[in-house]
Amino acid sequence: MGLKPTRPPVWLMRQAGRVLPRYMKMRESHSFKELMETPELAAEVTLMPVDDLGVDAAIIFSDILTVPVAMGMEIEWTDRGPHFPQPLCNLDNPSSHLKIQTERLDHVYKAIDIVVSRSTVPLIGFCGAPLTTLCYMLQGVSTRQNFPDAKKFIYENRQETRRLVDMLTEVSIEYATKQIEHGIDTFQLFESNAGLLPTDVYEEIFMPSVRKITQAIRSMGIPVIFFAKGLGCGLRMITPDVCDFVGIDWQTNIWDARRMVHPSVGLQGNFDPHLLFASHGQIAAEVAQYHKFFEQYPNWIANLGHGVLADTPIENVKYFINKIKNQ
Ligand code: CP3
Repeated sequence: MGLKPTRPPVWLMRQAGRVLPRYMKMRESHSFKELMETPELAAEVTLMPVDDLGVDAAIIFSDILTVPVAMGMEIEWTDRGPHFPQPLCNLDNPSSHLKIQTERLDHVYKAIDIVVSRSTVPLIGFCGAPLTTLCYMLQGVSTRQNFPDAKKFIYENRQETRRLVDMLTEVSIEYATKQIEHGIDTFQLFESNAGLLPTDVYEEIFMPSVRKITQAIRSMGIPVIFFAKGLGCGLRMITPDVCDFVGIDWQTNIWDARRMVHPSVGLQGNFDPHLLFASHGQIAAEVAQYHKFFEQYPNWIANLGHGVLADTPIENVKYFINKIKNQ
């Protein structure tokens, strides 16, 4: 039996960009792509939130859209976000246009090597889960958050969707395996678009791929956090053979999530990112509620229910983290 932790561990999705003054300063002289693809700079950004916010883990500074790039897609990083000039939904048999070039991910492993040599906290590796990554590949842009053309494609081209999911699964497993070989301690699979499809459709087309990816990672002794935003009642599918922890979105009540997810699977989350715009009093009151939850269910990692938002006052982010740590 493990020892009961005295406080929950805490880290934040998107902790490395968006709110850190040191990051914003670096962005004045470097593009996001340059920061990501230069191992020394990516390592520096990865470790910034550990020093500047006091989080308990670092997450490698990269993006889920590196995987489509390693499948031969060209990407442009604009001020309004990522953009694929040739989205797959405009092509016939898109899988035949892809060319797997996993060496395009080598810069990530170099960044991991540097972080591991310097860091004193656990390092989280990650990739996008199949539906979320596929949505960007099919749609091309993220400005339309409901991904209408991607969704249409999935319903119209079931066979081809399966082929693309299989390719993504293969590349994700290789990518995760290499991250592990280079020294990450934990892995998070980001399924930010899980809520886009009915649960049964998600289960049928995407869950087999999720299971393959998480099993490959866990077979190497690395725990997996599966962040499935919008899964709702589909949280009932999350059994111990899927993952070690499941990331809960901010819409789902944490106590309800606890009732739906198998008791051996830990929870991560799920403060509303907008809570960090509230007063310190409000933040403290909300954290106190979660401390009660932790007393009852200690297999919990404190985090937000989605990424930290741009413009969040940094003092509030620090206050929140200190409150979680009972400081
Ligand atoms: O969490 C971290 O701090 C680690 C690094 C990380 C980034 N993106 C850096 C980033 C991680 C884990 C991601 C995951 C990611 N990327 C997801 C899944 C999680 C989620 O937020 O839903 C998705 C959907 C993406 C795709 C993506 N990347 C979009 C839509 C955008 C533009 C809008 C935005 O969120 O800023 C990005 C850009 C991006 N990825 C930035 C950062 C720090 C902003 C780049 C900048 O201008 O400095």
